[in-house]
Amino acid sequence: MAADEPQPAKKIKLHHQPLRENVLFGMGNPLLDICAVVDKDFLDKYGLKTNDQILADEKHKELFEELVKKFRVEYHAGGSTQNSVKVAQWMIQQPHKVATFFGCIGKDKFGEILKRKAEEAHVDAHYFEQNDQPTGTCAACITGDNRSATPFKKRGLRSLVANLAAANCYKKEGHLDQKENWQFVEKARVYYIAGFFITVSPESILKVATHVSESNKILGLNLSAPFISQFFKEDLMKVIPYVDILFGNETEAATFAREQGFETEDIKEIAKKAQGLPKVNEKRRRIIVFTQGKDDTIVATADNVTAFPVLDIKQDEIVDTNGAGDAFVGGFLSQLVRDQPLEECIRAGHYAANVIIRRSGCTFPEVPDFH
Ligand code: AP5
Repeated sequence: MAADEPQPAKKIKLHHQPLRENVLFGMGNPLLDICAVVDKDFLDKYGLKTNDQILADEKHKELFEELVKKFRVEYHAGGSTQNSVKVAQWMIQQPHKVATFFGCIGKDKFGEILKRKAEEAHVDAHYFEQNDQPTGTCAACITGDNRSATPFKKRGLRSLVANLAAANCYKKEGHLDQKENWQFVEKARVYYIAGFFITVSPESILKVATHVSESNKILGLNLSAPFISQFFKEDLMKVIPYVDILFGNETEAATFAREQGFETEDIKEIAKKAQGLPKVNEKRRRIIVFTQGKDDTIVATADNVTAFPVLDIKQDEIVDTNGAGDAFVGGFLSQLVRDQPLEECIRAGHYAANVIIRRSGCTFPEVPDFH
């Protein structure tokens, strides 16, 4: 396959293998997203950039309260990994509880919402619940309307501020290590962890990663946001050798490349170099998957680098791209757990992302129309 040649996904009829419960394992920060269209003054007041994802600090203390008071807000169950496993479960449909999710929440109203939403999505969530911190939230500050006459500006639409709170209290000893929880890790064949979780419990990731590698299973990781490659480099690079499939978008890829001294800005070159980084389980060759919004998704395997076109959509049909990357991963995983070829995983990723960007937040209709 030539590196530059677009390879549309093959239209093959899927012969779905019967799946069992808990085959897909996800672990991450369960957050309740508080979404609102805000003005520039609001962004300036809290020092936010339009195209950014950050963790809340002291100066964002009042942001959440002001957001709710001043603007019309919508609440959506969020958190990157949780979004992806929900989308995967939605694509899979039956049986329920193919996807397991671990993360930490507070014993409060928001925690109850997350539990209810996970149940409605038929995800087998086993939250670590604690009293010290409230359930985490993520302010999605949107500055634009895709349905307006203004042309859709890629990545100019939202600024995410995550207040991890309870999500930051996930403890390996308190949850993952417990026999009743670890059995779910052992039951899985495919694992997915968004890079965001590296800021919380790298030791939990390494424990799961070691299990995956020793049992020749599959671990997917997402670069998640530029700050992970920049400020959590050491922990990230401890996990990378265990990663079988590395996901990210083009901004995250570029930051990763800069931080690793790859000396290239070419996304295909970056993918190739990331593919070749050292790996613990050499029986599985690493795969790199970089999405680029409306542009081709770049996939590097040990043999080649390929560009896959995304599904067409009129840009004014996009409601918001919140969760587009998470949905892509969810679609991808839904076929990976069925042992489908890489092309099918990517086709499913593009399909799921295409559905989600037509809706508000990372939400989906009752059943997928993916064949
Ligand atoms: P958000 O960053 O909005 O979600 P995301 O999934 O990362 O979505 P992006 O819009 O950033 O997409 P992307 O750049 O990854 O993918 P791409 O544009 O290439 O955040 C969502 C969640 O993050 C929230 O729920 C929040 O809770 C959580 N979060 C924030 N901080 C967190 C933290 N610290 N810990 C845990 N969770 C945290 O697009 C992917 C695909 O979509 C493309 O391949 C394509 O198929 C399709 N697509 C996208 N744009 C277009 C387009 N214009 N035209 C056609 N197709 C498109």
